[in-house]
Amino acid sequence: MKPILVVYATRGGYTRRIAERIADRIRTLRHEAQIQDARTEALPPLDRYSAVVLAASLHLGQHEQEMVRFARSRRGELAALPTLFVSVSLTEAAAADVHRPDGERLEARRAVRRALDDFERETGWRPGKSVPVAGALTETAYGPLRRSLLRRLVTRDAPEEPSRQAAFTDWAALDALVDALVGRAVELSATAPPAAPAPARVRGTIDGRPPVP
Ligand SMILES: Cc1cc2nc3c(=O)[nH]c(=O)nc-3n(C[C@H](O)[C@H](O)[C@H](O)COP(=O)(O)O)c2cc1C
Repeated sequence: MKPILVVYATRGGYTRRIAERIADRIRTLRHEAQIQDARTEALPPLDRYSAVVLAASLHLGQHEQEMVRFARSRRGELAALPTLFVSVSLTEAAAADVHRPDGERLEARRAVRRALDDFERETGWRPGKSVPVAGALTETAYGPLRRSLLRRLVTRDAPEEPSRQAAFTDWAALDALVDALVGRAVELSATAPPAAPAPARVRGTIDGRPPVP
């Protein structure tokens, strides 16, 4: 089977970690994975891959613009492959927090859905599957205002100590999504028609000798 491509976009680095985990999982399943930053100039043609994962984080309600550009410009190629779009956010951490009141969780769930719908509208690409994944609160780099705004998005278990990172990702659930994508890619590559035969050699017809077998 051809390799699986994992493209990521990140501001703070956490989505790269998620992309690396996805690539590791693909390799654990004994398939080849390639990982690329969406900012990379000239990403290769996607027909070299058997499936593509796109992972981007949410900032101020928007996914990274480089991922929007990538999905928009490659939507035709993406439509021909099994795909998974992973949207990384703290709103999803709130939506998954069982200690929160139902109303808050529902509101968070709707906000995440809106961000996914906006991404589809902006790019014109409909992923095979799109999933929200809870990200991390990496606080050291943020000023006090940002920190307190972000803290309100996440669970009460977030550490008070500002230098620590609190990650909310459900790694087992992420692995299960990757397993399902790999399963689809394997199925499709097993049923794909064989590659077209190489063109017949024509030298013999040009110089008068029979073609070399
Ligand atoms: C400036 C800033 C704005 C953010 N805005 C949002 C937001 O609108 N919605 C949300 O759910 N999470 C928001 N987050 C949380 C990030 O999505 C989360 O921290 C994610 O793990 C960051 O991933 P990254 O390190 O790959 O960029 C924001 C984080 C920062 C630093």
